[in-house]
Amino acid sequence: MSATIVDGKAVAAGIEAEVAHVIDAGSAAGWQAPRLVVVLCNEDPGSATYVGHKNRAAERVGIRGETLTPPVTSSTAALVELVDRLAADADVDAILVQLPLPEQVDQDRVLAAVPPAKDVDGFHPYNFGRLAEGAPLVVPCTPAGCLELLRRHDVPIAGARAVVVGRSVIVGRPIALLLLNAHATVTICHSRTVDLPAVCREADILVAATGRPGMIDAGFVRPGAAVVDVGTTRVEGRLRGDVERASVEPVAGLLTPVPGGVGPMTIAMLMRNTVTLAVARRPAGAPAVSWV
Ligand code: GUN
Repeated sequence: MSATIVDGKAVAAGIEAEVAHVIDAGSAAGWQAPRLVVVLCNEDPGSATYVGHKNRAAERVGIRGETLTPPVTSSTAALVELVDRLAADADVDAILVQLPLPEQVDQDRVLAAVPPAKDVDGFHPYNFGRLAEGAPLVVPCTPAGCLELLRRHDVPIAGARAVVVGRSVIVGRPIALLLLNAHATVTICHSRTVDLPAVCREADILVAATGRPGMIDAGFVRPGAAVVDVGTTRVEGRLRGDVERASVEPVAGLLTPVPGGVGPMTIAMLMRNTVTLAVARRPAGAPAVSWV
């Protein structure tokens, strides 16, 4: 057996087309296009690349996108004030604070300043709570992209055994909640899990979100399992996932590659979340959306 290799770029392009269609329908009816503001306050090359992708995607689908770049010496108070201004601006639908923030900044305070109704990343504790309750308004983009890839490849989720390796607030935990909400039986593993390969081998769906390049090899994979690689670590200028593709590909049933798997989906889901928030905030004249 050799795994089906998921083409995340193609799936993402399909989602972008759906998003663009909804925005076009709204614009034709006189509804103003959604506006997304990104706050980029770091000098991390990965963040710059990611924000560049976001801006280009926004342009493709018809979202009014814009990036603010406060100085990396900014204080917590200055960033909270900036976010407060965007929160109060009725013409801003969606706010994204790019992470990481500089060391001197209290990240939790800045993220908490984003009102839940404009929290396009779904990082606000209120939105995380809604996700945990099984009734999310917006879902963090990368986890949402992972689930969408599984759904669009007809991977059965209800009743499946799912194992998530990694418990970060941005990726591991929300993916586990999404799988649970979709009726999978979910195990979350982390650095203290005993006999990690054996736990992973129980998985029909294995999600690798550790940030440790190549740590998941064939010894972690049940034959035929769907393997979702969320890792994106830059190694010698190349993007590497958590999964050792050459080892896993002959064993898995489905595999999302790095690059070209989950990455493009993150951007597409950001576009979709932006429209979701704009429609919820400004329902008058809004186009119909069916993906929420
Ligand atoms: N930095 C790395 N991933 C992300 C993400 O999904 N959202 C934000 N805001 N920052 C990030």
